Amino acid sequence: MAYEWKFNARPYSDEEAKKLLSDVVSPETTDWHYNKHHKGYVAALNTIEKGLEQTDRSAANGNYSEVGELKRRFTWNHAGTLLHDVYWEVLGGDGDISKGPDIKSAIEKEFGSFDKWKEDYKATAMAAKLSGWGLLVYDQLYSGRLLNVLVDEHQYGAIWGGIPLISCDVFEHAYYHKDGPGRAGYIDNFINNLHWGRVNERYKKYVAK
Ligand SMILES: [Fe+2]
Repeated sequence: MAYEWKFNARPYSDEEAKKLLSDVVSPETTDWHYNKHHKGYVAALNTIEKGLEQTDRSAANGNYSEVGELKRRFTWNHAGTLLHDVYWEVLGGDGDISKGPDIKSAIEKEFGSFDKWKEDYKATAMAAKLSGWGLLVYDQLYSGRLLNVLVDEHQYGAIWGGIPLISCDVFEHAYYHKDGPGRAGYIDNFINNLHWGRVNERYKKYVAK
């Protein structure tokens, strides 16, 4: 039996989600993003699992093989699923970092101030490719620091053992329907709608043990 990947629901309803990022994102964009793109990654993971059960491993080589393409698309869809889970989890708030006292202290310690973190985080998300992400990551295995990490697509630029605490999706599908190419305004709106209480819970769960 192939392993079955599960879809993690958002911590709020579809109706509540339609009001998310409403300065720059239409209700339709939110629905498509969740029900087509996000769920699509989970469906693809399960298709890949079935493919890996049957593929001819003796045909593997460094140019083209079915097993190679399945493995490549596995990484893309796994990272895409995980980062979308985090994206929805940390949205739905009012952007008030005082509601996340532990992560607030950690950010101030690493970046000097919340505003300095925000400046670097926004630049990170702005500089990712048209399909990419800006992440706040806990570098668990190497430095133990909080880092703003630029990821192109879902996986290029990920750091090993890095735990994403905040993920801003800058794929065009996240915001183009209403705001066109206005990525800067979208990122501002994303930061202003962060639910720092839930970010704090992620921090306490994975970092401050
Ligand atoms: Fe997305």
